[in-house]
Amino acid sequence: MKAVCWHGANDVRVETVPEPKILNPRDAILKVSSTTICGSDLHLYDGYIPSMQPGDILGHEFMGEIVEIGSEVKQLKKGDRVAVSSMIGCGHCFFCNQQMWSLCDNSNPNAWMQEKLFGFGTSGIYGYSHLFGGYAGGDAEYVRVPFADFGALKLPQDIPDEKLLPITDAFPTGYMGADLCDIQPGDIVAVWGCGPVGQFAMRSAYLLGAERVIGIDRFPYRLQMASDFAKAETINYEEVDAGEALKEMTGGRGPDACIDAVGMEAHGIGPEGFYDEVKQTVRLETDRPHVLRQMMLACRKGGTLSMMGVYAGFVDKIPMGAFMNKGLTLKTGQMHGQKSEVYAEIAGARFKGRSRSLPRVHASSTPSRSEARLRAVQAQTRQLRQGLTQTLI
Ligand SMILES: NC(=O)c1ccc[n+]([C@@H]2O[C@H](COP(=O)([O-])OP(=O)(O)OC[C@H]3O[C@@H](n4cnc5c(N)ncnc54)[C@H](O)[C@@H]3O)[C@@H](O)[C@H]2O)c1
Ligand SMILES: [Zn+2]
Ligand SMILES: [Zn+2]
Repeated sequence: MKAVCWHGANDVRVETVPEPKILNPRDAILKVSSTTICGSDLHLYDGYIPSMQPGDILGHEFMGEIVEIGSEVKQLKKGDRVAVSSMIGCGHCFFCNQQMWSLCDNSNPNAWMQEKLFGFGTSGIYGYSHLFGGYAGGDAEYVRVPFADFGALKLPQDIPDEKLLPITDAFPTGYMGADLCDIQPGDIVAVWGCGPVGQFAMRSAYLLGAERVIGIDRFPYRLQMASDFAKAETINYEEVDAGEALKEMTGGRGPDACIDAVGMEAHGIGPEGFYDEVKQTVRLETDRPHVLRQMMLACRKGGTLSMMGVYAGFVDKIPMGAFMNKGLTLKTGQMHGQKSEVYAEIAGARFKGRSRSLPRVHASSTPSRSEARLRAVQAQTRQLRQGLTQTLI
């Protein structure tokens, strides 16, 4: 089969590789109908995520048709049309049971590598380095889907691929970014980065009750989309100082919550930009944390920072004094895509004009949330299935 393979920084090739096989009774094989590129793939392409090996198949946002199932797959059958969450969750461990799928204890065979770097191992991710499990990705004609009963979301047949594909990653990430902000009525939410994650974060922030949403980027077409698709006010940070502009737009108080939808390859301007470029190039820091720094300074006192942009290792010159003295809260994580169906249905309900105050499923703070509550949310949202299309258009 053909697949997109990584061979080094800025070196990606379409190659002929062996087709995947069922390795475990809970696997399925998916024939990929559509796949797309994530901002996270850029971190691999640019060579900043360690432990990639030449020939690794890329891609963690894909959907298609189930063509083979292992003997213990219970919920799927051949011919099912599914979208697959980029995070691989076993469905049974402490973390999966609490809907924190990207923290699964059982899906990363290379967790030992992460233990050295992160203290504990996280879940595996398709096509996203050996540190995250070494799984073949979905930028290919076929892909093996481990723990298929939990990772593959069944989809209706009558909605085109391009409207459903964001459910694999960009949509749940943006939604989680807004969800982590614990938005209260009247809140102003600022979102750095108007890529796919930022767009869904902005739209979700309104869904969850924000009064105003402000999108920050430098590309006019992305800012235009933030305005048209997400109904956000916008700041072009190359034209004005983003921190000053935010202060002015919020009556001098600063946004109540700030979402980082940019991550480790943030574009910096001025001496700070130069500083991080140099330090990252010579590997004295792994990530460029411009946005994180800006958020800490721009956020109102007592506000919340939600970091969905990916960071890989170590950062420098974080204004910890501002963070501590202003009483800020920082929440973050890889998204929990297995909850996409819930997210989409809740969002769909909003766009169908139903109540804003639907129950919310908190990804990051789930330990205290009971399974019963989650089941209640799922039961309620199941009644709102019709909303799926509106959310993703
Ligand atoms: N946490 C998760 O589970 C998860 C999932 C998907 C993606 N991500 C991460 O989210 C981030 C965004 O993903 P995407 O697909 O939207 O990427 P993208 O590359 O399409 O968008 C990033 C945007 O950030 C803008 N940007 C760069 N520097 C900026 C700055 N200083 N201020 C404001 N904007 C700036 C860029 O112009 C670009 O439009 C990436 O880091 C990606 O790895 C995380
Ligand atoms: Zn992604
Ligand atoms: Zn698990």
